[in-house]
Amino acid sequence: MSALTDALRYVRSRTDFVPQAAIVLGSGLGGFAEKVDVLTALDYADIPGFPRSTVAGHAGRFLFGRLHGVPVVLMQGRVHYYEGYSMQEVVMPIRLMRLLGAEILFLTNAAGGINRSFHAGDLMCITGHIASFVPSPLIGPNDDTLGVRFPDMSHIYDVQLSECIRQTAAALDIPLQNGVYVQTTGPQYETPEEIRMYALLGADAVGMSTACEAVAAVHAGMRVCGISCICNMAAGISPVPLTHEEVQQTADRTAPLFRALVENAVPRMVNP
Ligand code: HPA
Repeated sequence: MSALTDALRYVRSRTDFVPQAAIVLGSGLGGFAEKVDVLTALDYADIPGFPRSTVAGHAGRFLFGRLHGVPVVLMQGRVHYYEGYSMQEVVMPIRLMRLLGAEILFLTNAAGGINRSFHAGDLMCITGHIASFVPSPLIGPNDDTLGVRFPDMSHIYDVQLSECIRQTAAALDIPLQNGVYVQTTGPQYETPEEIRMYALLGADAVGMSTACEAVAAVHAGMRVCGISCICNMAAGISPVPLTHEEVQQTADRTAPLFRALVENAVPRMVNP
């Protein structure tokens, strides 16, 4: 875990900012930074031992600032397992934000819709996840200073935080679905057969991130919540082949509502 200590030391040499909430900005949400009075920006590339985002459209930096007065750290761009990093590397930014002081983790992502009552452009509050198809980020020696060897995962997505998201959506008149997210390794999209299997297993949406981050965060004692932007209906449900362009277009189209929801939900979480 010395890579984490080195990274922490570097960040602390640049800023003494203590975030209360950490927000991971998924596809299309990068512009959320406009809502935040940014004090410090740190590129992942400048942090020793840190993974770099290699996906087009994922900026790859931390922004420290205030969102309606709440001290927050934003991850503008995340790293994915399919980029070739180990799961431990993928969750390193989450652990770092925890060590910087963040108690709340707000995850956002783009996902494919499995639940047939969903539509492209829907937002979904994540109520649970299936992470069994990707390696655990907790494999390897346990860092006892972060958390226990065998952490409980019965309530990953915090009920109170999720209720804040729902109340905010209702107040802003933003339709909101609820559902279970299944993480795959990617980078290929799923086959229709895999989507039928995930549906049988109880998944409502599928994506290539998030669940591993939530596991690492709960391990480290954070309260977690998350929202998926359903950017396309999953393979076999959508009549057209899936493309990254379609995903990005829907993410961009939905971004204003998505941003408004995150912007207004965070202050409710901190001052309920
Ligand atoms: N599958 C996996 N990940 C995704 C999808 C999908 O259909 N859409 C956006 N991210």
